Amino acid sequence: MELKRLAVPAVTALLVLATGCTGATVQGRPGASGVRDPLFPRAGNGGYQVEHYALDLAYDPADGQLHGTAVITARAEQGLSSFNLDLSGLKVEGVDVQGAGARFNRTGTELTVRPAKDLKKGEVFRTTVDYGGRPKPVVDPDGSREGWITTGDGAVAVGEPVGSMGWFPGNHHPSDKASYDVTVTVPDGYEAVSNGQLRSRREVGDGRTEFAWHSPEPMASYLATVAIGKFKVTTGRTPSGVAVYDAVAPGEAAGSEAALKRLPEIVEWGGAKFGPYPFGTAGSIVMPARTLAYALETQTKPVYSGAPDELLVLHELAHQWFGNSVSPKTWKDMWLNEGFATYAEWLWSEDHGGVSAQRRFEAFLAGDTSVDDQAGGDWAAFPPAVPAGPDHVSDAPVYYRGAMVLHRIRQEVGDERFFDLLRGWAADHRYGNASTEDFTAYAERRTGHDLKKVWDVWLYGQGRPKA
Ligand code: TRP
Ligand code: ZN
Repeated sequence: MELKRLAVPAVTALLVLATGCTGATVQGRPGASGVRDPLFPRAGNGGYQVEHYALDLAYDPADGQLHGTAVITARAEQGLSSFNLDLSGLKVEGVDVQGAGARFNRTGTELTVRPAKDLKKGEVFRTTVDYGGRPKPVVDPDGSREGWITTGDGAVAVGEPVGSMGWFPGNHHPSDKASYDVTVTVPDGYEAVSNGQLRSRREVGDGRTEFAWHSPEPMASYLATVAIGKFKVTTGRTPSGVAVYDAVAPGEAAGSEAALKRLPEIVEWGGAKFGPYPFGTAGSIVMPARTLAYALETQTKPVYSGAPDELLVLHELAHQWFGNSVSPKTWKDMWLNEGFATYAEWLWSEDHGGVSAQRRFEAFLAGDTSVDDQAGGDWAAFPPAVPAGPDHVSDAPVYYRGAMVLHRIRQEVGDERFFDLLRGWAADHRYGNASTEDFTAYAERRTGHDLKKVWDVWLYGQGRPKA
């Protein structure tokens, strides 16, 4: 790790020297190689913000080869003599910036690009990266696998927290959200599915079919997905008109049916609880069982590994409001995703004949697994706003104690103000990013309550709160 952090400045120093040699006016300086995320310091890059990714991918399940052209439109936030993209594995065949060939260099997961001409602060510039090879999964600090994951005859790409660098070059940190066009060419007979709306599907000759997907709303790169397989596709609409696209591995179709049938109703329920569904489309991607050890809330179409049940579909759809539309500023703010999605499960249950959120909260306090089988877990291992490290972002406190924080607020302010807070939070931060401190300040302002004790004990305090 340390080696790498030294290596990047060394490379950029060389590039600066090279500029000096040409006698060009130096307007820019190198963009940072990370955004100093407290848990994933190498994730993302500084000096620019991406506006749009156009990814043109070709994949052959028979040999596992991916070829990609990424056209990245970004705005420089400083004068740039060079900037970085994150990319793990794969071979970079060429890079150009504003139509001119650019020099590039790779160190670890950093792809450093040196445009022929410095970029000016405020300039919108286009970078094209040609790349390819056989993508390898990215292994997380907690041992889970993400990135490009192959199946018996297909693949799926999932990116939380940093797996997206395993299949396309980008600014892979949730603080940089962008719109996407993802075009995927696969052998005839395969489906290729991604986020958003299917704009076109056409046979392009050579026995291949091209699928063009469009995501107009801002998306954090960890939520981008592509799934390739021989899926059974079903389309429909929710009662309020959101287009639904479900792609299901044939072997999981029967097992998925009951839960996916409720998806339109869940989207409507979320709309009533949290405010309008934030995206133009909804749906699901159900991969063969054991493709992954988890589900992921990929934007508009969550990915499931094997048939999901109703509560899992509910959880991943709740993330569309909390996590996807309102995204964390850093990975430390993860409880704003998982605590909210877990609390959504509690709310759904109390609205549909299950135990009340109050009863569930008490069961967690008492460790009573007869009410909730997770209540016996170590939800007090660390405070949810201070995760113990990058290998703990998926641990019980982030999910269950995160949900308990929300319930404690509800106890303090009452139902009316609490639900107004949830809707206000989703509306006022729609398509943006927010931190824990943004939330605590917002909650106090919106509800008119001093909630300092809740934050001190439940959000930041060590140990197991008693009530
Ligand atoms: N966000 C997923 C969910 O709860 C779980 C998950 C998958 C996850 N990969 C992760 C959480 C990586 C943290 C980090 O629906
Ligand atoms: Zn979740």
